[in-house]
Amino acid sequence: MKNNQKQKFPHGFYWGAATAAHQVEGGNKNDWTKWEEQNAQRLAGKKEKIVFTIDPTKDYSDPEVKNPSNYISSIACDHYNRFAEDFDIAKKLNHNAHRFSIEWSRIEPEEGKFDEREIEHYKQVIEALKDRNIEPFATLWHFSSPVWLSEKGGWNGQRVIMYFSRYVEKIVTALSPQVKFWITINEPQIYTALCYLTGEWLAQKKNPVAHHRVFSHFVEAHLQAYKIIKKCNPQAKVGAAKNLIDFEVAGNNPWNILLKKIGRWWGDYRYLDLIKNDADFIGFNYYFHNRINWWFNRNENKKVSDLGWELYPEGLYNILMDLKKYNKPIYITESGLADAKDAKREWYIKETLKNAQKAISSGVDVRGHFYWSLLDNFEWNKGFWPRFGLVEVNYKTLERKIRKSALAYAEICKNNFI
Ligand code: BGC
Repeated sequence: MKNNQKQKFPHGFYWGAATAAHQVEGGNKNDWTKWEEQNAQRLAGKKEKIVFTIDPTKDYSDPEVKNPSNYISSIACDHYNRFAEDFDIAKKLNHNAHRFSIEWSRIEPEEGKFDEREIEHYKQVIEALKDRNIEPFATLWHFSSPVWLSEKGGWNGQRVIMYFSRYVEKIVTALSPQVKFWITINEPQIYTALCYLTGEWLAQKKNPVAHHRVFSHFVEAHLQAYKIIKKCNPQAKVGAAKNLIDFEVAGNNPWNILLKKIGRWWGDYRYLDLIKNDADFIGFNYYFHNRINWWFNRNENKKVSDLGWELYPEGLYNILMDLKKYNKPIYITESGLADAKDAKREWYIKETLKNAQKAISSGVDVRGHFYWSLLDNFEWNKGFWPRFGLVEVNYKTLERKIRKSALAYAEICKNNFI
């Protein structure tokens, strides 16, 4: 009995899944749609290394990788029109919370001109969640921006904070009465790294100065958004969704220990330290473990996802224990894997949740978990082939099919118990 009690999650725990506007809605016109048109051919011609789950020694190469249309978001999952149907599924899967994002380019398609119909659309999205007793967690910015902003330098532009604050004020004022939980910026450092260090996304620049500037803008954007949201509704709860990596030292030598310190400071805690006084909770996205042995990424990769990313559920526990120092409620705002054959998803969900539970038993204040993602969706520069969904989407017919692992997760959500 005592053991069972230990495995219960706290009363009122939020269970759900996450999505992002550009990845599921379809029909967007933003900086990504423009970029996709310009880059689809190139991406289709690239040699992708794909690892499939059942037998990683075999090459199952998804033919979609070579198809340029894989890289065009187009109507995506048509979630923009089918959100009610999708929330019915979430309800059926016993979710009591849902994380989604608002598409800035819909709200402000032209500089300074706001589209009231689109604001109304998100009101309906929120209403649909509320009707189903699903708590909305709204993200204000999840990687995509209006085209006019990108023409002014995007997040590297001089006036981006003013533009962002104006958008936030507009949308938060409209939605505030219905939304308690706000997430300002999604994964600021994934965006800065992929746009300005590796040069894979959007700006495609390898420019450390721009990288640093955009990072500072994401700090400032959060701080401003925090103020605006609190002014609208002092009861609202505001945080950012930060990707955090579990750095592990293999072999306790001083060099490895130093690299770990640098990695944690640079990649994990720098951003959180700068916003912590203006955050009501910590939102944390978990995907990566990084084993250091004279250099980074010396991972054993015993299990990997379809994207070749190591599956290391223990890392979640380590990070949660580290986050205890902030003394704030924590929401796991994303955790998931690409697994087209649904062969490892149930295992991964259960193992990550056991690790979350272990941290909770050690006094960490974890209050919610959002699996990434509710639906298969458009995975940025990888396109549609990586399958992250609890629900499979047939992109030809747009039919939804609940995966087996989703049912296993639904049981946990229902019982509040693993
Ligand atoms: C992002 C999502 C993305 C997921 C899987 C996170 O970095 O927030 O937009 O689809 O990870 O790569």
